[in-house]
Amino acid sequence: MKCVELQKDFYYVGVVDHALKVFDVAVLTDYGTSYNSYLLKTDEGVVVFEGNKAVTAEEYLDHIRSIARIEDIHYLVVTHTEPDHSGAIESLLELNPQITVIASAAALMNLDKILRKPFNRKPMTPNGTMNIGQYTFRFISGMLLHWPDVMFTYIEELKVLVSCDAFGAHFASDEILLSKEPDKEGYYKALKYYYDHIIGPFPSYVIQACDRVSALDIKMICPGHGPVIDDDIKKQIEIYRSLAEPSLPKNDPNHVTIVFASAYGYTRKMAEYLKECFEKDGKQVSFFEISALNYAEVKPQIYEEIRTSGLVLLGSPTLVGDAIVLFYDLLNGLVWPLAQGKKAAAFGDYGWSGEAVKNLSERLAQLKFNVIPGFRYAFKLDEQGEKELAEFYDRLAA
Ligand code: FEO
Repeated sequence: MKCVELQKDFYYVGVVDHALKVFDVAVLTDYGTSYNSYLLKTDEGVVVFEGNKAVTAEEYLDHIRSIARIEDIHYLVVTHTEPDHSGAIESLLELNPQITVIASAAALMNLDKILRKPFNRKPMTPNGTMNIGQYTFRFISGMLLHWPDVMFTYIEELKVLVSCDAFGAHFASDEILLSKEPDKEGYYKALKYYYDHIIGPFPSYVIQACDRVSALDIKMICPGHGPVIDDDIKKQIEIYRSLAEPSLPKNDPNHVTIVFASAYGYTRKMAEYLKECFEKDGKQVSFFEISALNYAEVKPQIYEEIRTSGLVLLGSPTLVGDAIVLFYDLLNGLVWPLAQGKKAAAFGDYGWSGEAVKNLSERLAQLKFNVIPGFRYAFKLDEQGEKELAEFYDRLAA
C-alpha cells in the first residue's frame, strides 16, 4: 500500500481492505472497504486524523511511520469513535502518550470508555476554530451522521473536509483518489448501499449537514471509508441531499395509515369502522390489509404512507400469544427518527389470550411513537364492543 500525498504536507495513511465481506455484522461489503486516516505536517508538529480499527493497528502505524515519526505527532483529531475508527488509538497512544486528542465532548466521553485510561484531550465545539502551525481547523457539527459524536474538521488552507462516515462508502480503492478510480459504477452502487444502511435513518440531519458543508469552499472530502473525493464536490453533496429529501418524515395530522390483518373478519370490521370515522372527519386514510400473500408487494407503499402520516394504526389478531409476525417485520424497518412526533396505536380481536395489542403497543413505544392506548376485543364485536371501539376512535381523534 502506498501512502498518498493528497496535497502538500497532507497524506493518506489509511488501510485498504479488499477482503472484508460484512461490516458491523449485517452490512454487506461487496466491494471491501478502507479505514481511512490522514496525516498533516505542520510547523507545530504532526497531526493525525482518525484512528483505525484495532485489527489494522500495525498497518496503520506503519503507514504513519512511512511519513513521520510517531514521537513527532502532537495531535490526533477524532471525528467519530465507532471502533472501526478508534480501535487503534490505544496502540498509537501507547507509543506516544503525549498526543493530545481533539474531539467533540461526546467523542471524548466515548474514548474514555474505549481506552479506559487517562489521555491528553482538547474538546472541539461546533463552529469552533483552532490554529495548529500554519493551518486553521474549523469544526463543523456532523451530528447523527451517523452518531451523536460526529464533528467534521475543515482545514481552511487546504480546503479539505474530514468527514469520517459521512460521504463515505465501503469501497476498497487502491487508487485512493476517486478521480482515478476506474470502477465508478461500482463506487456509486457502494455509496448508495452505504448511505441506505448507515446514514439513511437520519435524513433531516443529512440535510442540515449538507447545508453546512455547502457553504464551504471544498477541494477535497476525506471520508472515513472509501476513496477520497477530489472531484466534483458539489455533486457528492447533492447526491446526499437527493437521497435524504425523499425520506424526510412528514407528520401530516390529516393523514392516517391503517395496516391490519384479519383471519376471520373481526379485526377487519374494526379497521373498516375506523376508516369510515376518519374519512367522515375529513382525513385521508391509507388502508392496507396484509397477509403472507401480498405483504412483500405492499410493504414499500406502507412505509411511504407511514412516512407522511401523523397517525399510524396497526390491527392484528393474536396468534400464539403475539401479533402476526408480519407486523414485526414491518416495525423492524422503521427507525426512531421517522417515528418521532407521530401518534400510533394497535387494535385487534383475539380468541383466548389477546397479547397482540399490548405487544405491538410496546414495540411502537420503543420506536418512539406517541402511543395511544389500544383496543382489543374477544371475537365478534357486540354492543359493548362497538361502544368501546367508538371510545377508541375518540382517543385517536382527540
Ligand atoms: Fe465507520 Fe460509524 O463507523
